Amino acid sequence: MHTESHDFLPLLGTDFVEFYVGNAKQAAHYYKTAFGFQGLAYSGPETGDREKVSYVLKQDKVRIILTTALRPDHSIAKHTQFHGDGVKSIALTVEDAREAFVQTTSRGARPYKEPIEIRDEHGTIVMSGIHIYGDTVHLFIERKNYSGIFLPGFRSWHTEYNPEPVGLRYIDHCVGNVGWNEMNPWVQFYENVMGFKNILTFDDKQISTEYSALMSKVMSNGNGFVKFPINEPAKGKKKSQVEEYLDFYGGPGVQHIAIATDNIMETVIKLRSRGVEFLQVPGAYYDDLATRVGPIEEDIDKLRPLGILVDRDDEGYLLQIFTKPVEDRPTLFYEIIQRRGARSFGAGNFKALFEALEREQELRGNL
Ligand code: FE2
Repeated sequence: MHTESHDFLPLLGTDFVEFYVGNAKQAAHYYKTAFGFQGLAYSGPETGDREKVSYVLKQDKVRIILTTALRPDHSIAKHTQFHGDGVKSIALTVEDAREAFVQTTSRGARPYKEPIEIRDEHGTIVMSGIHIYGDTVHLFIERKNYSGIFLPGFRSWHTEYNPEPVGLRYIDHCVGNVGWNEMNPWVQFYENVMGFKNILTFDDKQISTEYSALMSKVMSNGNGFVKFPINEPAKGKKKSQVEEYLDFYGGPGVQHIAIATDNIMETVIKLRSRGVEFLQVPGAYYDDLATRVGPIEEDIDKLRPLGILVDRDDEGYLLQIFTKPVEDRPTLFYEIIQRRGARSFGAGNFKALFEALEREQELRGNL
C-alpha cells in the first residue's frame, strides 16, 4: 500500500504573536520590565501608519507585537473594546505564503488576508492569513527574501530603558479555549485544513477537580515545531475555568502561551522579583513530589517557595509554572516551562493547578 504522507503545510516555526491592546505604549513597558523582552521594532504615524501603532519586542526566538488603534472607530479599537487585551494573530513562518493560503483555504479555511507582497530596501515579505477560533487568526509569513529587522513598514526601536532578559527562549505551545462541543470541530480543522495530528487527549475525568472540569486535545504540526492544545469546558458542580474565560473574553481565544526556558529556577526568581504573579499550589503538593516524580536534578526544597511544578512521563520530566492572568479580565496568562526530556504537558499537575485556579475564580466570584 502506498502510504507516503506529504506535509502540505510545512511550518518553520512560530514567527510572532500579535496582541491587540488598549495601550501598546504601556503594554510594551510591562513586557520589558516584567518579562525581560527587548525592544526590536516600531511602526506608527512616524513611519507612515496613521491608523495604528505597533511595538515589536523580542527575547531569544520569541517575538511579540503589541498593537493599538489610534482612532475610536478602527476595527482594532472595537476588538479591544469587546475582548479586552488579547491575542489577535499567531503568525507562522512558511517557505511559501501563497501556497499556504491556497492549501488551507482549498481545505475549508476562511480567508483573512489574501496573499500580499510587501517590500522595502531590505527585500520582500509575502504574507497571507486565515481565520481560526473566535476573532483569532493565523498569518503565514514568508521571509526568505527579506533581511530587515522585522517587516517592511517597521523601523528599529531603541530606547535607553532595557531591563535584562529573564531567559525566555521560544514558544513551546499556544493554547486555545473554544466553546461547548467545539473542541472536536477545531481538532478536525487542524487535522484537515492545517495537516496537524492529535498527539494527546485529556478527557474531563483526567482534567477535573471536585468542582469543575475541562477537556483538551493537543494538536501538533508534522515537524513538531508548532503545538496547539485546544480546550473546551466540561460540566462540573461549578463553573469551568474555560467557561469563565469565554464569558470574559467574549468567546473563543488564546488562553495561554507557554514559553520555554533552559533554567526555570533562575527565570522564575527574576520574573517574581519584577512583579510577575504566579498561581500558588498548596505546600502539600511538594510533600509527596519526590515519590511521585522520582529523582530530579533540581532541589525540591528550592522549587517549593518558587511554586514550580514537576511532572514526569515516559521520556523524562518537565518543570512548569503558570502566571495569573496578565490583564484585569481573567483571560490570557503565561506558562513558563523547562523540558528535561518530557514532551507531554504536565497532566500530573492538572488537579493541583486547577484547584489553585478555582481559588482565584472563587475570589473573583466566578466559580
Ligand atoms: Fe500549557
